[in-house]
Amino acid sequence: MEEKVIAGQVTCPQCGQMVNPHERLCPHCGVPLAQAAAIAERMIQSNLTPDNVVPIAPEILVPRLGEYLIERGTISDADLQRALAVSRLPGANGQRRLLGQVLLDLELVDRETLDQVVTEQILELQSALQQSNRHLEQRVRQRTSELQNALSKLSELNQLKSNFIANVSHELRTPLTHIKGYLDLMADHILGELTEDQSEALKVMRRAEGRLEELIDELIHFSLASSDELFLQRGACDVAVLVSEALTKCAPKARERSISLASSLEAGSPLVMVDAEKIGWVLQELVENAIKFTPPGGRVEVRLGREDDRLVIAVQDTGIGIAPEQIDEIFEPFHQLDGSITRRAGGVGLGLTLVRKIIESHGATIEVQSQVGEGARFVFWLPILES
Ligand SMILES: Nc1ncnc2c1ncn2[C@@H]1O[C@H](COP(=O)(O)OP(=O)(O)OP(=O)(O)O)[C@@H](O)[C@H]1O
Ligand SMILES: [Mg+2]
Repeated sequence: MEEKVIAGQVTCPQCGQMVNPHERLCPHCGVPLAQAAAIAERMIQSNLTPDNVVPIAPEILVPRLGEYLIERGTISDADLQRALAVSRLPGANGQRRLLGQVLLDLELVDRETLDQVVTEQILELQSALQQSNRHLEQRVRQRTSELQNALSKLSELNQLKSNFIANVSHELRTPLTHIKGYLDLMADHILGELTEDQSEALKVMRRAEGRLEELIDELIHFSLASSDELFLQRGACDVAVLVSEALTKCAPKARERSISLASSLEAGSPLVMVDAEKIGWVLQELVENAIKFTPPGGRVEVRLGREDDRLVIAVQDTGIGIAPEQIDEIFEPFHQLDGSITRRAGGVGLGLTLVRKIIESHGATIEVQSQVGEGARFVFWLPILES
């Protein structure tokens, strides 16, 4: 029975049937799609190593004049051995003589026959070369189509893997909502009074739950970003409002670490056309990083300004800073600098990857100015909405 291809569907790496890439398990063979995709990806990559390419050795172009003359009965084997022995001896000018010349000198072959044999051989070589070219072209076509198939397979497999992250992240949210609900009820003493030790334990649990929630949000955003599904819901937006919201959300963390938060916001800053939720998330992530990587007593500031027809937004801190040569690295997924500080600070190293994706999907860019020990300044520009 012929398979009906539905737009957006991909083939299951295990059974080859069409599946919806958003499923976790293949409805036909039951295999977990992400794992099967990872295994299939590895197999494709190992198959792409050039192990079975036909070698095109230069030997096929080397003329074997002597053997050819024996084959066509012009000279005997003994004649050839004699001529070869002479050709190995140095000639009058100290150089070795070519076999053809020796055969002429020994009168084993006349000039006309030699010319004819050489011409025949050249023609044979030419046809061998043409055939080998045709073979080569055929191999190139075949390899190109194999590579194209592998490429499209790999992009399907990648989609399955990143959908897996999104699926799992969404499913993690449900039990977490229950945990958070009950923790809130307990903290509000609705489920009864708590001892001092229980209150302390509850505080730790709520902090951990908050962190888990943030991580899950990041994973969802990241999987969306990596599967090119970063849909922007743009609208006219006052970034000053987003900055205030981000600072309010980060205030408890800043207090906890004795870091002062400041902002220079002009009333009625120009409007920009952005996805407010995502740019709000970017601001929060940059401020959270600034707090995380600034020692107690430091300062974190968000500045808004205007540069021609662009709004410039800068988040700067007085923290540990970043070596200029490591600035590119911090935007790589799961990449964190100095392990010891990062372990203390927590996180998985996805924040900035997503920050850059969100900013770039707005057609904007982000820049980092920093030196080790001298704080960091993350700046990005958004086009101002024409009034
Ligand atoms: N303001 C900053 N000052 C110094 N280093 C920074 C700053 N912001 C980011 N970094 C460095 O860049 C790395 C990557 O940052 P990113 O936000 O991607 O990950 P994270 O904060 O470690 O984890 P996550 O954001 O996933 O919780 C950080 O681990 C840190 O080493
Ligand atoms: Mg971060």
